[in-house]
Amino acid sequence: MLTQDASTYFIMFSQDEGKKNGSFASQFKRSFINIIIVDIFEKVVNNMGPLGQYASIGQGYYFFPKLEGEISNRMVFQGKEMLVWSLNNYLGLANHPEVRQADAEAAQKFGMAYPMGARMMSGQTVYHEELEHVLAKFERKESSYLLNYGYMGMVSIIDSLVDRHDVIVYDSEAHACILDGLRLHIGKRFVYPHNDLENCEKQLKRAQAIVAKTGGGILVITEGVYGMSGDLGNLKGLVELKKKYDFRLLVDDAHGFGTMGRTGAGTGEEQEVQDGVDVYFGTFAKAMAGIGAFVASKKEIVHALAYNMRSQIFAKSLPMPMVIGALKRMEVIQNQPELKNKLWEVVNALQNGLREKGFNLGNTQSPVTPVFLQGGLAEATQIVHDLRENYRIFCSMVVYPVVPRGVILIRLIPTAVHTMEDVRYTIDAFSEIRQKLNDGKYSDGTIPDVADKL
Ligand SMILES: Cc1ncc(COP(=O)(O)O)c(C=O)c1O
Repeated sequence: MLTQDASTYFIMFSQDEGKKNGSFASQFKRSFINIIIVDIFEKVVNNMGPLGQYASIGQGYYFFPKLEGEISNRMVFQGKEMLVWSLNNYLGLANHPEVRQADAEAAQKFGMAYPMGARMMSGQTVYHEELEHVLAKFERKESSYLLNYGYMGMVSIIDSLVDRHDVIVYDSEAHACILDGLRLHIGKRFVYPHNDLENCEKQLKRAQAIVAKTGGGILVITEGVYGMSGDLGNLKGLVELKKKYDFRLLVDDAHGFGTMGRTGAGTGEEQEVQDGVDVYFGTFAKAMAGIGAFVASKKEIVHALAYNMRSQIFAKSLPMPMVIGALKRMEVIQNQPELKNKLWEVVNALQNGLREKGFNLGNTQSPVTPVFLQGGLAEATQIVHDLRENYRIFCSMVVYPVVPRGVILIRLIPTAVHTMEDVRYTIDAFSEIRQKLNDGKYSDGTIPDVADKL
C-alpha cells in the first residue's frame, strides 16, 4: 500500500512510463532503490487475463454478444434472426405464459425492492419459506434454503461446511464457483481427475490420513451434470464409496435440476442415489429460467448453513418476483411433465442425428451437447462466424485452455422450444462446416475471419 511515510523513501519518479504504451498514465510508478511499485490500474489493463487477452478481436461478437427479441429458439443478433442454441432455457420456461404472468403480477404487487434487507435481519417472508418447503419436498430432503445467485451461494456453502481441520476432495472439472469456495478453504484439498473414482479413492485415503491427525472431517464435491461436456458426475460410485470412507457428499446440480431424473429432481434421482447426496445444490438460472438458487439437506444442516453462509447473511434477500416466480415455475415443472419430455425429444433427435453423421459428442448423457472438432483458435472463430453469418445459427465455442490444445468444442443447448426442423437444419449445417474444416477452408482464408471486420 502506498503511504505518506513510504513516499519519503522514493528517490525517483517515472510518471511517464505508463504513457509510453498508450495505457493508463502510471501515476504511482516510482522506483525505490531496487523496488518498483506498479500502478494496479496499469497492471490490469496490460494483463487482461485468459479471456480478456482476446477482447480486442472478440468484443461484441464472441464476448458479450447482444441477443435481442423474445427469449426463444429464434432471436436477433446484430440485426439478423438466428437459430439460437446457447441458452440454458431447458424447459422453455423463460417465455411460458403462466410464468410470465406470475412474474409480472408479483412485480406489480410487490415491486423489486420487497423484502428489504438480508433474510436474517429483515428480509424474511412466508413466500421464501414456502418456496423452500416446495424445493425440499421436490428434492426429497428435510429442508432447503434459498440463495441469491448460485455462484455466491456455493462459495459460502463450502466455506460454512469446512474449517482448517477438514479436507476437501473434488473433481478436476469442478465449476468456477466450487473452485472459488476452495480458495477460501485453508485446510488441505485434493483433486481427482474428472470422474476417476479409483483416483478419488486414493485422495480419500490421503484425506483420511490427514484428518486422523487434525481431528477434522472430509467433504467430497462433484457436479451432477458437467456443463461443458454434458457428462454426469458418478454420484452412484461416490455414494458407494461412502460405505468404505467417512465423508459427506456435496453435489452441484446446476444443469441437472429440472432436466434429469424421472420427476426432474436431478442427477441424484437419475442415478437413484438422491438419499446418499448429503448436500444438494440447484440453481434457478437454467431449467427454471430465473434467478436465485437453493441448497437442500438435513434440517439441522440447512439451519446451520443459514446462520453461517456469509454471502447470504451479508446480502439482500431474493426479491419477491423471483420467489413468487420460482413458486410458479416449480408448479409448472411438477404439473407439466410434457415440457421435460419435449426437451428430451429434441435432445435425443439432435444427439442421435449428430452421432449418426459421425460427430464426436464425447460422453454426454444430459441435454448439454458438445460437438468436438479438430482445430485451433483461428478455425474456431471462423467456424462460429460462418455459422452465424451464413447459416444463421448462434452457438458458443470453447477453445484451449478449457479444452486441450487443437480441440474445438462447439456447445449446443437444446430446449423444449426447439423444433425438429431446427434439429434437421442444424445437423445439415454442422455436416457442411465439418466438410469445410476438413477441406482447410477455415485456415486458408476462404471464409473471411471476423477479426478483420472488428
Ligand atoms: C455448475 C454450476 N454451478 C453454479 C452456477 C452458478 O449459478 P448462478 O447462475 O445461479 O449463480 C452455474 C452457472 O453457470 C453452474 O453452471
